[in-house]
Amino acid sequence: MVAQAVSLHPDFSPGKQPGISGFGRRWRMTLTGKRVVITGGGAGIGAALAARFRQEGATVLTADLKNADVTCDVSHEDQLVSLITQAGEIDLFVSNAGIGIPGGAEVPDEGWERIWRINTMAHIWAARHLLPVWLERGHGYFLNTVSAAGLLMQIGSAPYSVTKHAALAFSEWLSVTYHDRGIRVSALCPQGVKTDMLKDAAEQGSGFLLQGAIEPEYLAEVTVAALAAEQFLILPHPEVAKYMQNRGTDHERWLRGMRKMQAQWPQA
Ligand SMILES: NC(=O)c1ccc[n+]([C@@H]2O[C@H](COP(=O)([O-])OP(=O)(O)OC[C@H]3O[C@@H](n4cnc5c(N)ncnc54)[C@H](O)[C@@H]3O)[C@@H](O)[C@H]2O)c1
Repeated sequence: MVAQAVSLHPDFSPGKQPGISGFGRRWRMTLTGKRVVITGGGAGIGAALAARFRQEGATVLTADLKNADVTCDVSHEDQLVSLITQAGEIDLFVSNAGIGIPGGAEVPDEGWERIWRINTMAHIWAARHLLPVWLERGHGYFLNTVSAAGLLMQIGSAPYSVTKHAALAFSEWLSVTYHDRGIRVSALCPQGVKTDMLKDAAEQGSGFLLQGAIEPEYLAEVTVAALAAEQFLILPHPEVAKYMQNRGTDHERWLRGMRKMQAQWPQA
């Protein structure tokens, strides 16, 4: 697959590096002056993060299939390479693009392959091409948009549950392996966020996701604070921590609870 032509936003040309605050004795994740790339930045959570990070004084390059500074399909490694190469120096890479597919084992391989490439491999490809440079210079930050489904599960979607669990596992592995070499990783794990993805999922029978759904702008606020604290797990819905605890403490009981929820939403 040939990479699409990548047109670069004028504010993000290589070599044009705004003053990077925080360099010195200890590099810190203050957003002011940082160079940020956000995939899936054309809508929803990615667009809200872009707007909020710009308010903080970051230079943000959004990448998406449409409505973004750069056209990039993250399901193709070569397009991610083009994005990373042309962005020049990057301080924070937000691997946020994601899709949902309802169903289970009956979903055709093409569907599994597509969601695997977008929800999981895109994080791996970004790391593959950013780490050599970041390890050399001694710092860099990955913010991977996962989901509470990566910690728990997605009722009604095996492909989403599996690929988000894998994305979380990879994020944890990155954090453990490279933290001491200056690399920081956060995994953003919300439940429902009021975006097109949630609207589509609700229309397909997963209406329970609307309960307690938050605005993307609120999620962006929480994320800015969590990045400043270099927190690995970002939980805009704090109750998710309790659900994780329940799952860890008594897995059988947690599964029984999830089956009850499934029974309430048989159409999901
Ligand atoms: N909305 C929620 O309730 C929710 C909850 C948990 C996690 N998430 C995750 O948040 C992330 C963003 O989702 P959202 O809710 O903003 O959805 P959204 O559908 O509103 O936005 C997703 C964006 O990703 C883009 N995208 C999809 N496939 C792409 C590809 N191959 N290459 C580049 N861009 C692509 C879309 O064009 C879209 O602009 C996803 O990873 C999703 O799994 C969403």
